[in-house]
Amino acid sequence: MGEMVSCGLTIPVLFQLCLLFLAPYINGRTFENCLTGKSCRSERPPVVLIPGDLGNQLEAKLDKPSVVHYICYKKTDVYFTLWLNLELLVPVAIDCWIDNIRLIYNRTTRQTEAPPGVDVRVPGFGQTFSLEYLDPSKRDVGMYFVTIVQSLVEWGYTRDDDVRGAPYDWRKAPNENKAYFLSLQQMIEEMAEKAGCSVVLIAHSMGNMYTLYFLNHQPQAWKDRYIKAFVSLGAPWAGVAKTMRVVASGDNNRIPVISSLKIRSQQRSAVSTTWLFPYAHSWPADQVLIQTPTTNYTVKDYQRFFKDIDFEDGWEMRQDTAPLVSALEPPGVAIHCLYGSGVPTAEGFLYNNFPDTDPTLILGDGDGTVNLLSATQCKRWIGHQNQPVHMLELEGNEHVAMLLNFTTVAYIKTVLFGP
Ligand SMILES: *[C@@H]1O[C@H](CO)[C@@H](O)[C@H](O)[C@H]1NC(C)=O
Ligand SMILES: *[C@@H]1O[C@H](CO)[C@@H](O)[C@H](O)[C@H]1NC(C)=O
Ligand SMILES: *[C@@H]1O[C@H](CO)[C@@H](O)[C@H](O)[C@H]1NC(C)=O
Repeated sequence: MGEMVSCGLTIPVLFQLCLLFLAPYINGRTFENCLTGKSCRSERPPVVLIPGDLGNQLEAKLDKPSVVHYICYKKTDVYFTLWLNLELLVPVAIDCWIDNIRLIYNRTTRQTEAPPGVDVRVPGFGQTFSLEYLDPSKRDVGMYFVTIVQSLVEWGYTRDDDVRGAPYDWRKAPNENKAYFLSLQQMIEEMAEKAGCSVVLIAHSMGNMYTLYFLNHQPQAWKDRYIKAFVSLGAPWAGVAKTMRVVASGDNNRIPVISSLKIRSQQRSAVSTTWLFPYAHSWPADQVLIQTPTTNYTVKDYQRFFKDIDFEDGWEMRQDTAPLVSALEPPGVAIHCLYGSGVPTAEGFLYNNFPDTDPTLILGDGDGTVNLLSATQCKRWIGHQNQPVHMLELEGNEHVAMLLNFTTVAYIKTVLFGP
């Protein structure tokens, strides 16, 4: 088992050799069962949860040369919760928080860096706590995967054993999270070997884009062996219109005490936001996303958009990240796409004073965050991969509330225990 994991799975060819030569010696019979669809040794397929943007905790430790306000900590002895901790998001303290959570883009390396003296880490890889509740104090406002995990436990699962979380630094796109994908791959292999059968992935929101990127980079033989199914909740396959507003004028949507313009500088620095701008492969070329008194911006006008809002690094970030999954190659595993609809969802923004004031929203269909047009793109895989593609519209379900809904939980149960 140890050999298998360290078998250099980064390189597909080596991986194939690995399987060829080592497979007969490593739980061979176990995997025969998996491949022929027989039930697991444990009777429960292991589950890996992949959260969305803002969807898991982040921690920071400081030893900064300077701070933006005298009340800000310059040095801490230990890691503290940077996300989500509502106490850090109140007036004045939020200035310290922004100066810690922001990223700095380097045009030469095309990578982001933390500000000097800020060390950010993702707690709890392989565990569920950091995505069950975002806020370690477990306030209701931070409820996330908790309903799904609790249901799994009631069905016989054990937290951090056969149901595990795969949190990541959601400020970045996959091109800056290479180590994450290796850890994810190793965890899936370990869980499959232990249970004697393949794994079910459950992703939410941007986590689906991460999962698609991951699966697109695995050989088909690996997917056949290790992945039973991919349950996709609220996926923004073609991006999300509201990311443009976030970058233009800031968006305090989820946390009312924050001023939009203040949070904008931090939001602009998170590369994953420009990664999720609407994609021309699905968005109509003539649909106006942002309208100002002088200019209309469509999916074709991003370079000008970034120039006009005086954020030209954004255009570089978009070019770095747009190709990562823009081909929407089929995942090559059985996929279940669940998506909310019937909730008013911004699909365009009208500005009087661009870009420094809040816009008027033009509403369309979706889950309140992800536009329906984007969430339903999974249909393009029907008939384009050998594995089944199932779609389930969840009428009236909001983007995050969908994780707490009984219909979602019941559907997951059929994927895990169904025929
Ligand atoms: C960007 O990275 C390069 C190469 O590491 C470095 O030389 C340069 O100082 C960095 N630029 C900034 C603005 O930090
Ligand atoms: C922008 O588009 C709207 C309709 O979508 C149109 O009425 C308006 O004249 C356009 N403005 C400019 C500056 O082209
Ligand atoms: C849960 O989802 C179903 C199916 O979309 C919907 O009819 C129901 O209203 C939702 N329940 C709640 C509490 O949101």
